[in-house]
Amino acid sequence: MPLAIAVLLSGNGSNLQAIMDAITQNKLDVVIKVVISDRLDAKGLERARNTGIPAVFIEPAKYLSREDFDEALSDILDEYQVSLIVLAGFMRILSDTFVTRNLGKLINIHPSLLPKYKGLNTHQRAIDAGESEHGASVHFVTPALDAGPMIIQSSVAIVSGESSEQLKQKIHKIEHIIYPKAIDMISKGRVELINERVFLDGLVLDEIKHNIEL
Ligand code: GRF
Repeated sequence: MPLAIAVLLSGNGSNLQAIMDAITQNKLDVVIKVVISDRLDAKGLERARNTGIPAVFIEPAKYLSREDFDEALSDILDEYQVSLIVLAGFMRILSDTFVTRNLGKLINIHPSLLPKYKGLNTHQRAIDAGESEHGASVHFVTPALDAGPMIIQSSVAIVSGESSEQLKQKIHKIEHIIYPKAIDMISKGRVELINERVFLDGLVLDEIKHNIEL
């Protein structure tokens, strides 16, 4: 049985598209059971619907607290019986309760070489700091924001005079390769989170192995 996944997003959904494309091209053996967004106008919802994937909008204003929103989210995830929750540009912070309950089955992609540049606006910040490279990271989600154990990272060079928009496009390209790859490794049982450490093929994944050549 292919792994059942949910994709959570708030915007464009180009990473969702990359995951859907990898499935279509038989590079990834998972089934996207549902796409969920906290934004009604998220293009990712439309991408899901166009492919016949259930697309659900959860309206934040309807819930008094973060925990209440996350309860509604959990209900939908339970309904679709998903085994892996994939955050792909989901801009809402999840409650510690939700994250803790889903440890090891909740992953995120972040546009930086974590632990550098957590949070927003990473591309401009990397340029402003004079960095020679920037990248993207896929990690398990833990309660601390953008700080969970790393699964895969990949980097690109920052070219002199490059705008943050140009750098963002380059980073998106590598995101679209590493996210399906990380999901593939999890779906095959190759990557697991055990006691806050990531294991690949039964061995602790060290820093060097996180970096993949594309
Ligand atoms: C990506 O850059 C991802 O790293 C970040 O949000 C962005 C989502 O882009 N978490 P898209 O909606 O998948 O195009």
